[in-house]
Amino acid sequence: MSITVSRDRHHRYSVVASGEALAPTGPLRRVLQEHTGEQLVVVDEALWPTYGPAIEALLAESAHRILRLPAGEQNKTLDATLRVVEAMDACRIPRRSSPVLAIGGGVLCDLVGFAASIYRRGVPYIRVPTTLLAQVDVSAAIKTGVDHNGFRNRLGTFWPAALTVVDHGFLATQTSEQISQGLGEVFKLALIASEDLFARLARLPADWSPQWFATSADAAALMRQALELMVAELSDDLWEDNLARRVDFGHSFSPLIEMRTGLHHGHAVALDCLLGASIAAGRGLLATETLPHIAAVMRRCALPVRHRAFEDVDELWTALAEVVHHRDGAQHLPVPIDLGKHAFLEDLTRAELAAAVRRLRRAV
Ligand SMILES: NC(=O)c1ccc[n+]([C@@H]2O[C@H](COP(=O)([O-])OP(=O)(O)OC[C@H]3O[C@@H](n4cnc5c(N)ncnc54)[C@H](O)[C@@H]3O)[C@@H](O)[C@H]2O)c1
Ligand SMILES: [Zn+2]
Repeated sequence: MSITVSRDRHHRYSVVASGEALAPTGPLRRVLQEHTGEQLVVVDEALWPTYGPAIEALLAESAHRILRLPAGEQNKTLDATLRVVEAMDACRIPRRSSPVLAIGGGVLCDLVGFAASIYRRGVPYIRVPTTLLAQVDVSAAIKTGVDHNGFRNRLGTFWPAALTVVDHGFLATQTSEQISQGLGEVFKLALIASEDLFARLARLPADWSPQWFATSADAAALMRQALELMVAELSDDLWEDNLARRVDFGHSFSPLIEMRTGLHHGHAVALDCLLGASIAAGRGLLATETLPHIAAVMRRCALPVRHRAFEDVDELWTALAEVVHHRDGAQHLPVPIDLGKHAFLEDLTRAELAAAVRRLRRAV
């Protein structure tokens, strides 16, 4: 006997922009009022001194429990996920009517999303991303996960947040370095998919600050363009059935290098993009003279243009082998052709990689 069941499932999720995510009149208050039982809020503990009072005020009329967790890649663990799960039990959260609320950067959003996706085989959650990286990149996607066994996002799921509320005001308390980490993902997208976004990055004011990102209309327009572009890139294949994805640009060598060196994700992505550009130059897909221009835009974004791990060919080759495994045995290596366009390479050789590293040393 043979029985085959085939069903499509409709998915819908929303990302809304609000200048006042935590305000009593903002979108969250309305949502929270509809929730039943004790509301679980998981918040990045670094945010508590600044935003704790506003979060308490937002929840004043609801029974609630607050779990504060440390962020940073080293805290993106299964242990932290289990702490969220235990808090869910303690709150006796209902299966549908009271989505867990996650307030924090990419680490917190990814790990709360992971906990929500495995708790009772899936309960809803809402995100309030508080870093530039999480607002322009994580917000667009339905991916959750934690690091494990020395690998990034080794455990994870596809689980859309019911709602994501983006409030640029949070960026005012980020450091410039943290803003630049987020710009790493914007730079990735710009270089591979949008000459227009790339030009916007090139025009960033030389003296930009976190405050500028939090308040200026130009910054808001840049971040909106990046988010919309990211949504457009992802929405046709949310479950990654196709493993040749141009948004994986910058994510070919970086995953293992990040875990081994402690380089921040956004910075590792940017360095990986620059190396990808150099590889493309070696194939004649991109003019070598473009490399210094790309590096200049990276500097404008306060991104690193050199790092010893990205000059270590053995390390890079090992990192690529790991990603090839992740891409089911194929390189599917996205590289830029000119600015804003892409190609996939399937046959990069170690000698070509070494030449790309040497070319970069000369060019930037
Ligand atoms: N799910 C996805 O599709 C996706 C996409 C891209 C990246 N990511 C993940 O995102 C993670 C990186 O995100 P991140 O850079 O936001 O990391 P993070 O959450 O660790 O935040 C970075 C630092 O900023 C602090 N912070 C957060 N908000 C702040 C604020 N408003 N003011 C001051 N400090 C603040 C945090 O405490 C932390 O120290 C990586 O783990 C990466 O894998 C996921
Ligand atoms: Zn990324």
